Amino acid sequence: MSSLEALKKELVATVKAANDIPALEEIRVTALGKKGKVTDMMKTLGGLDPEQRKQMGQALNQLKDEITAEIESRAALLKNAALDKRLQEEKSDITLSPRPWPQGTIHPISRTVEEVSAIFAEMGFSVSEGPEIEDDFHNFTALNFPSGHPARQMHDTFYLPDVTGKTGDEAKRLLRTHTSTVQVHVMQTQKPPIRVIIPGKTYRSDYDITHTPMFNQIEGLLIDKTAHMGHLKGCLIEFCKRFFEVDELPTRFRPSFFPFTEPSAEMDIGCSREGGELRIGTGKDWLEILGCGMVHPNVLQNCGIDPNEYQGFAFGMGVERITMLKYGIPDLRTFFESDLRWLQHYGFGPMENF
Ligand code: PHE
Repeated sequence: MSSLEALKKELVATVKAANDIPALEEIRVTALGKKGKVTDMMKTLGGLDPEQRKQMGQALNQLKDEITAEIESRAALLKNAALDKRLQEEKSDITLSPRPWPQGTIHPISRTVEEVSAIFAEMGFSVSEGPEIEDDFHNFTALNFPSGHPARQMHDTFYLPDVTGKTGDEAKRLLRTHTSTVQVHVMQTQKPPIRVIIPGKTYRSDYDITHTPMFNQIEGLLIDKTAHMGHLKGCLIEFCKRFFEVDELPTRFRPSFFPFTEPSAEMDIGCSREGGELRIGTGKDWLEILGCGMVHPNVLQNCGIDPNEYQGFAFGMGVERITMLKYGIPDLRTFFESDLRWLQHYGFGPMENF
């Protein structure tokens, strides 16, 4: 066997025996590196006659290529084996049963907002939101509140310090007292036909068993060329049946007053209070549920919509109130106390369907 073949055999055997990448690298250096065995043999080429040099040169180059290929394939094998080992060791058992979820619950208010949004979405309404800090124009003026209206007084509205450099109503900043402010934003920025519902936090200076300084409302607004009171009634009756999950629901629209709607009404739904238990849908008692009406022409005008061409209706309801009625929650204030026992009891699991 020629010395070259013997060297090849020896090198291939050491490559095959190498068990990790550093060992392979060492073999590469001792065989093919600057002071390696193959390189040493290359250096002897100069002393050979031309014919032998040619043959030997080719043979050495071939040997170099073969050893390089051996090292590479061994390296690939070792890397794959290392990866397999890691995958084995780091394997996680996805068959473990999930942890029980009642660590946190979805707050009944969030649940109601989701539910109401879903019901109106099916009727073609989309959801809009607006700022909680407002100016006098969006909260009152645009909505046709005459100056001196009681709602503008300090005892109802939380005012913020006046804007510097402005005077009178223009300088006033406040926490919105209703979500009707967003009606104005929507009408100022969207072209009719409009169909939106507007959930959000609202603020009034009030505190007792049925009032908290912060509470949630959901507003509805529909503007087109033909909307009338019949549409308003049909839409709200359908909503109440769906929300309270009853097929038969007596309803009543009582005349009322809001500066931004004309005519205005309050909607009542039928209920019974027999034996101290409130039942919705039957009986001879009534529960007030929301305020509504046809959008006042002045409001359309104030928001840049031509009242001779367009008309529409609006409604607004208290989220806590309809939630209390649906789930039999007796005290409004408990919504905001963050009592874990209350949250566990009245809250919803993330997987619960409507
Ligand atoms: N903004 C009214 C309130 O807070 C409710 C309402 C909204 C009434 C829209 C009519 C139309 O009481």
